[in-house]
Amino acid sequence: MKKLVAVALVVLFAAATGIAAQEVYKYEAKNGAVTFDHKKHIELEGGTCTACHGEGEPGKIELTKDLAHGAACKDCHTAKGGPTKCNECHKK
Ligand code: HEC
Ligand code: HEC
Ligand code: HEC
Repeated sequence: MKKLVAVALVVLFAAATGIAAQEVYKYEAKNGAVTFDHKKHIELEGGTCTACHGEGEPGKIELTKDLAHGAACKDCHTAKGGPTKCNECHKK
């Protein structure tokens, strides 16, 4: 059910704004690329967007190394049991 709600929200959002999110984003890094599964993360958040995009209409997140290693990614992993070791995110 959670999954259905998430999918429905994404479809609604794309229809309303015309901006579609990719299912997966890949960040190149010299110590191995990081794959961010947007679709799976939305499901993990029960179809909500605010944990990452804040209040209001979700838009572009300008990821930096510091943000990725902190508020944008790793802090939540520390809190909720996601990957926190280098090679759990960076894959060669
Ligand atoms: C776990 C964190 C997280 C959650 C939850 C999340 N997103 Fe995202 N979202 C991202 C990241 C990271 C990107 C990729 C960086 C970027 O290009 O903005 C992204 C990209 C996007 C983009 C593309 C923006 C652009 O301009 O290319 C849209 C649209 C979007 N998300 C919508 C949503 C919606 C709608 C939800 C809730 C149903 C959601 N996101 C939930 C992290 C998240
Ligand atoms: C939660 C996932 C995650 C973990 C854990 C993580 N990283 Fe990253 N890291 C990223 C993401 C995502 C980026 C890309 C940010 C960007 O593109 O701006 C990044 C960027 C980097 C960069 C910059 C890459 C470049 O080519 O300029 C380096 C270096 C790096 N990480 C090293 C590490 C090391 C060393 C560790 C362990 C101590 C680590 N990372 C742990 C997600 C992670
Ligand atoms: C709001 C919380 C939250 C945020 C923010 C978040 N994650 Fe996660 N992530 C999780 C959880 C929880 C898991 C563990 C899922 C599992 O074990 O099934 C996870 C798992 C992962 C995994 C393991 C592989 C997979 O897809 O399950 C990777 C890689 C990952 N996250 C990358 C990222 C990156 C990169 C970012 C930032 C752009 C990010 N995450 C932001 C909660 C989050």
